[in-house]
Amino acid sequence: GWRTSHLYLFQNFWCQPKEIQAIISLQKHFQAQENDLLVATIPKSGTTWLKALAFAIVKRTHFNTSLSKTSHNDHPLLSSNPHDLVPFLEYKLYANGRIPDLSTLFHDQEPRLLATHLPFPSLPSSINSSDTCRVIYLCRNPLDNFISVWHFLKGMRPKTLPSLSFEDGFEMYCRGVVGFGPYWDHMLGYWQASLEQPQKVLFLKYEDMKEDISVHVKRIADFVGFPFSLEEEKNGVVEEIVRLCSFENLKELEVNKSGKSIACFENKSLFRKGEVGDWKNHLTPSMAERLNKVMEDKLAGSGLSFKKYV
Ligand code: PPS
Repeated sequence: GWRTSHLYLFQNFWCQPKEIQAIISLQKHFQAQENDLLVATIPKSGTTWLKALAFAIVKRTHFNTSLSKTSHNDHPLLSSNPHDLVPFLEYKLYANGRIPDLSTLFHDQEPRLLATHLPFPSLPSSINSSDTCRVIYLCRNPLDNFISVWHFLKGMRPKTLPSLSFEDGFEMYCRGVVGFGPYWDHMLGYWQASLEQPQKVLFLKYEDMKEDISVHVKRIADFVGFPFSLEEEKNGVVEEIVRLCSFENLKELEVNKSGKSIACFENKSLFRKGEVGDWKNHLTPSMAERLNKVMEDKLAGSGLSFKKYV
């Protein structure tokens, strides 16, 4: 098959060999349940943020969401990284191809909050055939996504591989060679699904969330069937959740400064800048133009576009 450095083309997307066993296992064994909530992203598109928000929204009646210093607060997001609260199917639950006992792991709580980087066509068939589970997809403008991937991988690239230059990494990205990519196929799969089954798949953009997060918190709550009551809105619960899940809050927590929730990297590498437009500090104008052109071509006719943000 095709091989580019450490990535292999599998089911039409690029992934690392160690991920394949988990993917095969979860595709074979994962049984969707009514009300499952799946957070789906391509790496470095805001996964950690969306996991925190989904957890905070769905569990808000169980915990105190306020960050007020005067009240005791044992909210799980203050002591656990979002990746521990909303586990990845492929990195946590089915890692190395094992078959987890999900009823014990989730204590039969509903809805189960799960996450994946898999493209839509590779989701386990029980998710695709369920009418009642929900999928929230978050993507990000590819220029910032590339920069975020680049910084992240710099710290992770195995020493056994020759180092990759920024220019070569960019070249690969523009050709679609990136974990779970090509990025445009990843987006288009979920985009189409969200058009065909809007009650099942919610399609979000990182930049829209940065622009108005309160609106999105409410949208997510409505979508998953946990709308905010007037009472909650009046009491500022939406704003509390926004603050709890904010980059500034999560980044400064002890668990996110020193902990390790996913085997191969430290939690602190998940909180870099959290901004829109950092690509301007790294890409030359001609690089930006090139990637914009690639995206425009690939997304043409779909109704999906990132023009507003680049
Ligand atoms: S991963 O490894 O795929 O789960 O990483 P992911 O969380 O998708 O992407 C990391 C980028 O998201 C930024 N980030 C946030 N932005 C806004 N709000 C919150 N709470 C938040 N948490 C993480 C993080 O800084 C990475 O983006 P960059 O541009 O690299 O800063």
